[in-house]
Amino acid sequence: MTFKDQRLAFAEILKEDYPPEEINSFFYILTEHYFHLNRFETHQKDDAIFPKEKELQFSEILKRLKEQEPIQYIIGETEFFGLPFKVTKDTLIPRPETEELVELVITEFRESTTSLKLLDIGTGSGCIAISLAKNLSNAIVSAIDISEEALKIAKENAQLNNVSVEFIKSDILQTSRLEESYDIIVSNPPYVRDLEKKLMQPNVLDFEPEGALFVRDDNPLIFYRSIAILAKNSLKPNGLLVFEINEYLALEMTQMLTDLGFTFILTKKDIFGKDRIIQCNFK
Ligand SMILES: C[S@@+](CC[C@H](N)C(=O)[O-])C[C@H]1O[C@@H](n2cnc3c(N)ncnc32)[C@H](O)[C@@H]1O
Repeated sequence: MTFKDQRLAFAEILKEDYPPEEINSFFYILTEHYFHLNRFETHQKDDAIFPKEKELQFSEILKRLKEQEPIQYIIGETEFFGLPFKVTKDTLIPRPETEELVELVITEFRESTTSLKLLDIGTGSGCIAISLAKNLSNAIVSAIDISEEALKIAKENAQLNNVSVEFIKSDILQTSRLEESYDIIVSNPPYVRDLEKKLMQPNVLDFEPEGALFVRDDNPLIFYRSIAILAKNSLKPNGLLVFEINEYLALEMTQMLTDLGFTFILTKKDIFGKDRIIQCNFK
């Protein structure tokens, strides 16, 4: 079997399950991961023999893709904000929308010359905390998650990216106050209502950690309200609170933050034109 035969086998076996561009993209992600070949180099190897020992591995991967398992879990890594991140079934796969939250914080604080204390709540793979630590050299970054397993991966990701982040295991819903004060508190907490499950793809529902995603329909802002109350007591003067939000709940979020006394509340749309980020101050 040649590389081309393998590529055609992918196209044939997955044709009922994914659009052709996505199948191609899977194949190139795999050749990059297992053979360190980019797209162009992969094509140049069209007539080369596909290594026998990799054939079995690729046929196992095909089975997993057929079952809709995300390619990031299959290869155990992804890219976020141009940086490599390990991911497992215990961590949410970082989404491109979340990069915009990181970008916003960097833009706001890039010029800052004083040291900045920053807290990421619900860190998962550590993608937000680590990207910010990497890009804001004067930030002292801490990150909280309830999941021991996620924190283990986040720690590995901090090492992988050569940054220092303090990781703390804590249940934010059971926390009555934060121990320190911060210039910046960021969070992308669970925000998908149970009623929205039917809009979601099987690759998310069957593989990503439930506890990272869902909230009850009757209390969808549970994480945001708890975090905002903690932030009221822990943000330094002119400190910034930034959330990734559920696109359908921007008005409720604005109301909740106004009721709690936050000011300069700004909602921003993501690359897909959906309300996705909210930022505010507490004076
Ligand atoms: C939507 S994920 C975000 C992960 C990551 N920050 C990102 O943007 O990809 C939410 C995270 O919140 C964590 N989490 C859920 N309940 C929590 C709680 N009660 N206290 C602290 N973290 C919690 C989950 O384990 C998960 O890692």
